[in-house]
Order: sequence, then structure tokens, then C-alpha cells
Amino acid sequence: MLLDALYRAARPWIFRMDPERAHDLAFSLGERLCDWPGLDAPKLDPSLARTAFGLRFPSPLGLAAGLDKGARLLPLWKALGFGHVEIGTVTPRPQPGNPKPRLFRLPEEGLILNRMGFNSEGAEVVAERLRSRPDGLLVGGNLGKNKATPEEAALDDYRDAYRLIAPRVDYIALNISSPNTPGLRDLQAPEALKPLLAGMLALRKEMGLEAQPILLKLAPDLAPEDLDATVDAAAASGIDGLIATNTTLDRGIVSEANRARVERWGAGGLSGRGLHAKARDVRKRVLARLGGRLPLVACGGISTGAEATEALADGAALAQLYTALIFEGPGLVGRINKELAGA
Ligand SMILES: Cc1cc2nc3c(=O)[nH]c(=O)nc-3n(C[C@H](O)[C@H](O)[C@H](O)COP(=O)(O)O)c2cc1C
Repeated sequence: MLLDALYRAARPWIFRMDPERAHDLAFSLGERLCDWPGLDAPKLDPSLARTAFGLRFPSPLGLAAGLDKGARLLPLWKALGFGHVEIGTVTPRPQPGNPKPRLFRLPEEGLILNRMGFNSEGAEVVAERLRSRPDGLLVGGNLGKNKATPEEAALDDYRDAYRLIAPRVDYIALNISSPNTPGLRDLQAPEALKPLLAGMLALRKEMGLEAQPILLKLAPDLAPEDLDATVDAAAASGIDGLIATNTTLDRGIVSEANRARVERWGAGGLSGRGLHAKARDVRKRVLARLGGRLPLVACGGISTGAEATEALADGAALAQLYTALIFEGPGLVGRINKELAGA
């Protein structure tokens, strides 16, 4: 694939750039590519198709939330071979996110640290952009709350974002697991989670969108008993699925040689290769606890076809990745699809 060869050739140069500048540049180029008539989606092997929470996915592999927060490159993700893309996190009102620098990479370990803090154009702008979506790519809308909104009013924010985004996407993911919005992860506790989910399900009904799945995205850092309680509360609520996991606060996933360097970067969540074992432990615990009550989307450190295959064999309905795409390049999606089709 030409794009992959170009990415690989340019990678040393890209990795010398500030990560957020590289991201912005890639998005500018990506937007031009999306307008290019020659941008063609690959024909996906029919054996890749999966049904999950009532939706038919052309491939079980999806792009995790956070890369295309504003739904700017949907035709490109389709052309790479993703079966779905989770856009967002979208907050109801626009907000700039945390001050820069807020994105760091550790290529030798395939790790990224981010404390973006939900930089978002806001739900209105993103909803408008979603009017022109390519066919054949499923789109999830990942929703969050604005930083300035107090935790007690979180439900209002999720509802405001839902009203605008839900009519334009195939499923909704509620992000209560980013480590970069103070207090957000507290919403995972059952006493906070139950009214949040009930409020969202009531709104879904009000809007006549009962058929549209709502998923909940979990952190990998909950204590095992707390995780069980969260899973039980989610399963009892009437939502349709879980995503495990978001980034981790655990610096123990970094090799000792690089830990001091990562500590110096400061606050934020870690993703990528080193997260894989931890995210897998969490998803296995969640799957065991669920006992089939809800489907689960695996996410966290997946970077090879073997790991995606293993996630599905563990019992996940779908798999998502983000960080590996940055380090491995756009050809990774096709390579994983090929392995999944042969599995
Ligand atoms: C720079 C960056 C920004 C992210 N932003 C979001 C976000 O806005 N919402 C979200 O739910 N997850 C976000 N994530 C987390 C990813 O969706 C994913 O859960 C996590 O990175 C683990 O998967 P990975 O190891 O394949 O990257 C972000 C991750 C990165 C690296």
C-alpha cells in the first residue's frame, strides 16, 4: 500500500517532530486525501464480518476514540480497512483541552502518554460534519463532559452531547474513564453510574432511538472489586455493551530504564504496547464477570493480528486500536484484517 510505504519512509522525520504538530500535519494531509477521488476502500473479506449489539460490522477491527475527535477523516479510515470508527470524545460545548505539551511518545516501547483533556470542537460542529458520512463504515460517537461542568451536573452534559450526536451515528460510547478530566473516573462508581445510565437510557427512549446501542468505556485502573461492581451496575442498567479499556495511570507498564523520563513528562494516561497485558487482564475479568450479559469491545495495546485474534478468542465482540497505528503506520489495519480473515 502506497500510503503505508510513504508513512514508513517519513516516520523517522515524523518522529522528530513535536507529536501534536505531527498529528495536525497528518490531519491536514488526511483531509486532502479524503477529497481525492482515487481514495478507494478495500474489499473486505466477508469472513471478517461480525454482528455485535445488533449492528453488522464489516470487520471486527475499529479505530478507538481520541484520534479523530471531530470526525474529520472518515473516508480515510474506511480506506484503511477499519470496520468502525469511534469519533470523539466530543464534549457538548467546545473547549480547548489542557495546555501544551500534552502528548508524548516513547517509540522504543510503542507507548504514548497523553493528557489532551478533551480538546473538542463541541457537539454542534461535529454533528454538522457527520451529515456527510461514507457508507459502509460504522461510526460510534464517544461522548464526554466539559471540564467546567461540575460532576453533579455530568448527566446534563452527556445528554446535551447525545441530543446532537446520537441521531448521526450508529452507536454511542459514554466515556467516564479518561484520566485527564478531573473527577470523571469517579462516575464509574455504581452510585454515580446508575443515575447516569438511567438518565441516558431515558433520553434515548424519549428520542425514539431505543434501537441504537449505548456502550460504556471503562478504565483499566479500577480495583478488582470496584471493577466487578461497575460491571454489575452497567449490566443491570439496560445499556448494550462495554469497552475495555481506556488509558492507564499506571507508570509500572513503562520499563525501568524509561520510567524516570516518563515521570518527567508529568500527568496523563499511557497507551500502546505496554498496556496490552494490563488491558487484557481487565477484559478477561470483565468478560468473566459479565458471563455473557453484555458484549465487550476489547481495546488497549492491541498492535498485531495475533493480539486482535486473541481478543476475539477471549470473547470480545470487536477490537479497537489507536496507538499501534501511530507506530506501525496505516498498513497495519490491512495486515490485521488479513490475519483475522485467516484465523
Ligand atoms: C492521544 C490519545 C487521545 C485519546 N483520546 C481519547 C478520547 O478522547 N476518548 C476516549 O475514550 N479515549 C481516548 N483515548 C484512549 C484510546 O481510545 C484507547 O482507549 C487507549 O489509547 C488504549 O488503546 P491503544 O493502546 O490501542 O491506544 C486516547 C488515546 C490517545 C493515545
